[in-house]
Amino acid sequence: MTDWGNLPFSYKKTKINTRCSYTNGSWGNIEISESEHINMHMSATCLHYGQECFEGLKAYRDKQGNIRLFRWEENVKRMSKSAARLGMPEIPHDIFKSCLFSLVSQNAEFVPPYGSGAFLYIRPLLIGTGAQLGLSASKDYLLVMFCSPVGAYFKGGFKPVKVLVERATDRAAPLGTGNVKVGGNYAAALNTTLRVQSQGYSSALYLDPKEKKYIDECGPANFFGIKNNTYVTPQSASILDSITNSSLQILAAHFGMKVEKRQVPLEELETFEEVGQCGTAAVLTPIYQIVDADENKNYFFGSADSVGKISLQLYETLVGIQYGDVEDTFGWISIVK
Ligand code: PLP
Ligand code: COI
Repeated sequence: MTDWGNLPFSYKKTKINTRCSYTNGSWGNIEISESEHINMHMSATCLHYGQECFEGLKAYRDKQGNIRLFRWEENVKRMSKSAARLGMPEIPHDIFKSCLFSLVSQNAEFVPPYGSGAFLYIRPLLIGTGAQLGLSASKDYLLVMFCSPVGAYFKGGFKPVKVLVERATDRAAPLGTGNVKVGGNYAAALNTTLRVQSQGYSSALYLDPKEKKYIDECGPANFFGIKNNTYVTPQSASILDSITNSSLQILAAHFGMKVEKRQVPLEELETFEEVGQCGTAAVLTPIYQIVDADENKNYFFGSADSVGKISLQLYETLVGIQYGDVEDTFGWISIVK
């Protein structure tokens, strides 16, 4: 029996995954696979030249038992942008949709029940599978979608966390691939992630890689701050355009707040009333402490066991729409079945 209320954020085998190959310039038929493995050439470009991009989205079970997807069309658009940045083919909307809807409907038994606080996390990935030795793009690609029932990404669920300002490393270059979702960005951040987690932080807070003056984003999520009834979030060429963040901006505006997407100098942290990280996995995770060890500075926002009023309102509305408890007036939800 699955303990739906205590699921970790980790891989769990489901019934099937979906796949679609690209060869000779065109996409093939969608396959349903029961295998958890991919057989490929040792010289495949994803293995040595990093031709790989991925996405992350979730399916939710509502009170009526329907399975709901949140803004999935935004994931196709972003995945095509990531693919193009790495010289890979864009993904046709209908292929992404068929892979996604077949994956979720055929794994319906793995979508956690309403009220458990858990969800089905969906991971689409696109890899170059063709063999190359010199630096060039693969001629063959594979789109794979698999899923896993999961609980909260950060330990303890919806609880404030602390983060560490990172200066020793960057996750992305000023004009690099930070604004697309490619495996290389996460590889570049892994040793830092391990280091900061071993020190008790949830994640590293990266600064802009050019001047190290402005806040960029956290390792797995965007950053936002709230002050004077204003939602402020960084504008930067080296951060991912988060779908969760864009939704929170729309909700903030809907609640009558001002929304500012602009450069956010690190010192501005002193002026925020609430801050947090946001993303599909992170949802909205409030931050209660930001440590800048290099400058011997600490920024505090409320306490480790209290969530700011506006963060709470944004979180409850977002999650309410996702689970169907709050009316979806923005057209963000698609019902799978
Ligand atoms: N930033 C990074 C580096 C991420 O990995 C993610 C997760 O996808 C996000 C931001 C949040 O993006 P989204 O809300 O679209 O999941
Ligand atoms: C997501 O939020 O979907 C991501 O891909 C972040 C990842 C580090 C889990």
